[in-house]
Order: sequence, then structure tokens, then C-alpha cells
Amino acid sequence: MRTTVGIVGAGPAGLLLARLLHLAGVDCVVLEARDRAYAEARQRAGMLEQSTVDVLRACGAGARLDREGLFHDGIEIRFDGRSHRVDLAAHTGGRQATIYAQTEIVKDLVALQLKDGPPLLFEAQALAVERADTARPAVRYFHEGAEHLLECDYVAGCDGSYGVTRRALPAAGTRVYEHVYPYSWLGVLADVPPTHDELVYAAHERGFALYSMRTPAVSRLYLQVPAGTDPADWPDERIWDELAARYATADGPPLRRGPIMSRSLTPMRTRVTEPMRHGRVLLAGDAAHIVPPTGAKGLNGAVADAVTLAEALALWHRTGGERLLDVYSDTCLHRVRQAVRFSRDLTELLHTGPDRDGSAHRSRTARLRRLLASPGAVAALAHEYTGLWSAWCP
Ligand code: DHB
Repeated sequence: MRTTVGIVGAGPAGLLLARLLHLAGVDCVVLEARDRAYAEARQRAGMLEQSTVDVLRACGAGARLDREGLFHDGIEIRFDGRSHRVDLAAHTGGRQATIYAQTEIVKDLVALQLKDGPPLLFEAQALAVERADTARPAVRYFHEGAEHLLECDYVAGCDGSYGVTRRALPAAGTRVYEHVYPYSWLGVLADVPPTHDELVYAAHERGFALYSMRTPAVSRLYLQVPAGTDPADWPDERIWDELAARYATADGPPLRRGPIMSRSLTPMRTRVTEPMRHGRVLLAGDAAHIVPPTGAKGLNGAVADAVTLAEALALWHRTGGERLLDVYSDTCLHRVRQAVRFSRDLTELLHTGPDRDGSAHRSRTARLRRLLASPGAVAALAHEYTGLWSAWCP
């Protein structure tokens, strides 16, 4: 098979790239290793920056998001038994944090693509990228019992941190920066209406907790736990008791409890691959960079990469000019480094590290108090939380 852009991976980066290329009149084919049901059920983050919402609307994937998304003007930060609200919209000219799960974005983009978009092959497992530094790269893949070759002008690697496209980058000339945290997030979906109207980030001496939601009837909660924790060691009762301890306030409503429908562990790490391009292979999203989940920059960064890559490929397709492709990696990495810094700062500010006598926790709450007392620091947090890249419209 031959196409202009071979896209490996049908997560948000790959699917959005396919949508934007289709709208720009550029041929592409998407290969996804998993089946459709699996791809649409992968539980991931669910907080969208304003620019991500703007892009999804602009490419025709905003109808259900507008009906079912939960649009928040603020977040809460809770510590020492008190909650402090950060008014995101007031500090940013109306930018919001939108709750709409990654799984739902994937479903919307898959439906659009299957209706009128370019080919999307499920259970098509990419095996290797070949001839990356020639003008005719190709993806070798396995589909319906046989090996095939997808020949392209460019390959977009959107296949996540364990995908094969990263391996097309030669070790010499590629740098990988990595940091692994000694803790993880235990994430649960609970069949209970959220106790809070907005997200609550809790910095407690026992560890961090995040109260989020998926719908008016379903809560999404995260607890800091030691790396390597087995989710099976956390029965419902233990999860609710721990959340209640970390969220306790003198006067707030008690947490509503309900049945836990799923639980999973998210390791916390940073990994950035530089550059994000080798020859005619360009990486986007988790294939190129992972950040710890605090502040939800992963999904939003993947969307930003897809937009940058689509613009660069569309310009090349229209004019033959490679100017934007040549700066693709630098353009993305400029933003990625900000996301790394933001996610690391927020993670370290809110999580409990090794702390024998409680002094590290006291320093963290002193930093939080200082931040919340400074209008400039609160405004900076609101800007960075709601978006690290400027709004984009086609
Ligand atoms: C969610 C995840 C995050 O990492 C975050 O900072 C906010 C919300 C979520 O999954 O809802």
C-alpha cells in the first residue's frame, strides 16, 4: 500500500493528525495495533486545556464534547484541612479547564474517520520503520495474517512510549532524558456523583490525592501510592478511607462513597527524546515525551504536537517547502520543556517524598501558602494550567 503520510498509532495524536491532514487534503493511512474496542476503552487523563478544546471544535470533533464536557472556571488546592480556590477564568480572560475523557475524544475521532476520513486499520501491528533517512520511508506491519509494507513520503510515530517508531531514531544523535519518581498514582473510576463541582488537588502529609470526574454521575479519583503498588491490595473501603483522610476539612462536605468500577496504576516519570525527528520519521505525543500526570499535560501536549505536525506536512504538501518540517522538533521541544518543568514543579509541590520528621511537608505547604498569597504567582499558575501553547484555529 502507498500513501503520503503513514501514521502509526490511533491514540489522540495519531487520530487528530489524520483528521487535520484529511481536512488539508493530504492522504494518510493510520495503523493501530489493537482492536477498536480496546483503543476506545484505554482509560487515560481527562482534563483538556482551552486550546485542545478549540482544536477539537475547529476540526469538527466538538459536538459531543460541547454537549457532555464539564467546563470548569476554577480548581481547588487543599492542604492543612483548608481549600483554596484558583479562579482560572478570571486570571486568563475566560480560559477554562474542561473535563472530557481521552477515551471519548478517541471515540469521536474514530467515528469521524470511519465515516469520511482516510483508512484506519485496527489490529495492524507495526513491526518496524524502514528506510527512515531516505525519501521513501516505509512501515512494515502485520495485518490479517500477513506482513505488508506501507510506503509513504513521511511516517508519523504516534504509537506511544513502547511503540516501534521511536526505534527508527539512531542512538547516535538522539538524546533521551529520563526521571522516574518513587511513587505512582492509583486511579479509580467510581460509580458515584462527584462530591465537588471542580477538581480538587490535595497535598496531604499522607500523600497527594486528586478529585476529578467523568460525568455528573461518575467520579475519577487518584491517590499517590508507592511505585510498584498492586491495585489489588486496595479494596474499595481502603481507597475511600484514604481519600477521606487526605481530603478532610473542618467544614467541607464528607466524600460521597460508591462502588469502584475500575482501578489502575499510573507510574510517574518524565522521558523526553530529542530531537523528535530523524529523516522522514517524526514522533508525536507519548512516543516523544512523557511527563508525570499532575496537571494533565500529556494529552494536551500530544494534541499540540499533532497540530504542529499537520501544519508542517500541509505546507510541504501544498508548496514542497520543508521549512516547518525542519523546525518541527525545535518548535515542539520548546513547548515540551515548559510542560516538563510545569509538571515536575506541580508534582513536587503536591506529592509527599521521603520525609522523616514532617519538615519537607511543612516546606511544601509554606510554598503553597506563598504561591496562593501572590496574585502574580496565581495568575502564572492559571495561565500554565489552562494552556502552554497559544490558541490555534484553521
Ligand atoms: C485528570 C488528570 C490529571 O492528571 C489532572 O491533573 C487533572 C485531571 C483527570 O484524569 O481527570
